[in-house]
Amino acid sequence: MEIIHSIDIAQEMSMNLKKKGKKIAFVPTMGALHQGHLSLIKKAKEYGDIVFTSIFVNPTQFGINEDFDSYPRNLERDAKLAEEAGCDVIFAPSINEMYPKNFSTNISIDQITEKFEGTHRPGHFDGVALIVTKLFNAVLADFAVFGQKDYQQTLVVKRLVNDLNIPTEIIISPTVREANGLAMSSRNEYLDPETREKSSIIFKALIEAKHVIEQGEKDRKIINAHMIKKIKELPETKIQYCASAIADTLEEPKQFMPGERIVLLIAIHMGTTKLIDNMLVTVPFDRDSEKFIEGNIFNN
Ligand code: PAJ
Repeated sequence: MEIIHSIDIAQEMSMNLKKKGKKIAFVPTMGALHQGHLSLIKKAKEYGDIVFTSIFVNPTQFGINEDFDSYPRNLERDAKLAEEAGCDVIFAPSINEMYPKNFSTNISIDQITEKFEGTHRPGHFDGVALIVTKLFNAVLADFAVFGQKDYQQTLVVKRLVNDLNIPTEIIISPTVREANGLAMSSRNEYLDPETREKSSIIFKALIEAKHVIEQGEKDRKIINAHMIKKIKELPETKIQYCASAIADTLEEPKQFMPGERIVLLIAIHMGTTKLIDNMLVTVPFDRDSEKFIEGNIFNN
């Protein structure tokens, strides 16, 4: 495995590989790699002949009161883990390489960014869109793998590549969880063991809401209330949002429709640590609805 730091070298390597007919799959990360990231590298291996992983803690996606300075950084450890997972090239640029003096360009994405993480982290998705575009232009990837863990980010990246005609296919990979259901995250390192155990409440709330939907509940506020009630079993949590929305658009109708794919989204604080998670659910058809009967005929 090679570790490179310059955009020019990344582009040159990619172009040479492409000339040889090789497909490049790319996993952008901010390092502090865990099993979630490693699962993306393994997934990338299924798509590309060569896997690039970037490690770059991107300042433009952090708010002023966020953890940019304290974000865990350990290139040596990350490189070892990435290599074991099948990564061929690590691209680890410096801040100056990505944002040299006089850097002046911004990317701003509307609509999909105007709720949930977008409201609580103003400018976050613009920073993500900017760095993802720059990384894509450095690595020239045919495929890029993102985790479902950051659900809204996956929608933002899909919007970005569509709107700007970026010729990279976006692959979404499932969330990897700890044994208690807590979604793996670099930020879990900030939690003490007891809080880490308690944080499984997020997964339990998602599962409960999924169950309620599968039992026929379609009223968005009632679904959300189930998640809120569950999270509130732990009085020390601070809820940012417990929401359900149409999965592709993040629209929030009063009632969901049978057959609709919806996403359940939770963001809470455990002490000073913010944790997010999500789950996809398809609203079932009612037993007596026409669609259900049609579906049955179709399935038979
Ligand atoms: P980071 O938080 O390091 O995450 C890198 C990738 O790993 C993202 O696609 C994220 O969704 C995925 N990931 C994180 N935890 C996961 C888990 N438990 N299971 C599966 N995938 C998981 O997301 C970012 O970095 C940045 O915003 C980035 C896209 C690199 C731009 O700076």
